[in-house]
Amino acid sequence: MSDHGIGVMASGRGSNLQAIMDACSDGTIPGHVALMISDNPDAYALHRASKENIPAFCINPTSFDTKDQYEQAVSDLFIEYGVELICLAGYMRLVGPVLLKNFVTKMLNIHPALLPSFPGLHAQEQAVSYGVKYSGCTVHVVDEGMDTGPIVLQAVVPVIQDDTPDSLSKRILEQEHKIYPQAIKLLLEGRLKIEGRKVEIL
Ligand code: GRF
Repeated sequence: MSDHGIGVMASGRGSNLQAIMDACSDGTIPGHVALMISDNPDAYALHRASKENIPAFCINPTSFDTKDQYEQAVSDLFIEYGVELICLAGYMRLVGPVLLKNFVTKMLNIHPALLPSFPGLHAQEQAVSYGVKYSGCTVHVVDEGMDTGPIVLQAVVPVIQDDTPDSLSKRILEQEHKIYPQAIKLLLEGRLKIEGRKVEIL
């Protein structure tokens, strides 16, 4: 089994980062987290990575004059650490062309809704307010848009009568932790054929 280098970007709690690290440790994912970068110095994700002896840095966008310079620094670090695939895991910024350039079709994101419904922030709150009966989560390839890239995997979660954004988030999160490692595994094994919007699983 080959040992691919995975980069993770997370701005907060890092439970998806944890699921990815766990899936690497138990052999589900044929790779290891080679580097974790946060844009937020207070992100709990930084602690999670450090606890597992994974190189983890905060690169603060406010220390750079432009977004392009910030993204160039992030991209250079990922390349330096041998990262082949970047996984966005609660990274709260829109990825720009400078970061995307070297990772086209090699960058995934997890979103807590069934895209194309409820992109952007507060997806679970949007789902509860709208009154949908089912929501879920989506792993997609990252492109220049906001949660617009080709869809790799989705999991459906029922919305129940008295759900709050919090209770729905918890139910969705359980599925996120299952499908994100699964999608990463498929990509690293070369089992995703991406043609336009369509992703075929080989
Ligand atoms: C998850 O709900 C993910 O879908 C969204 O941000 C949240 C991150 O949670 N993109 P965590 O930091 O992985 O716990």
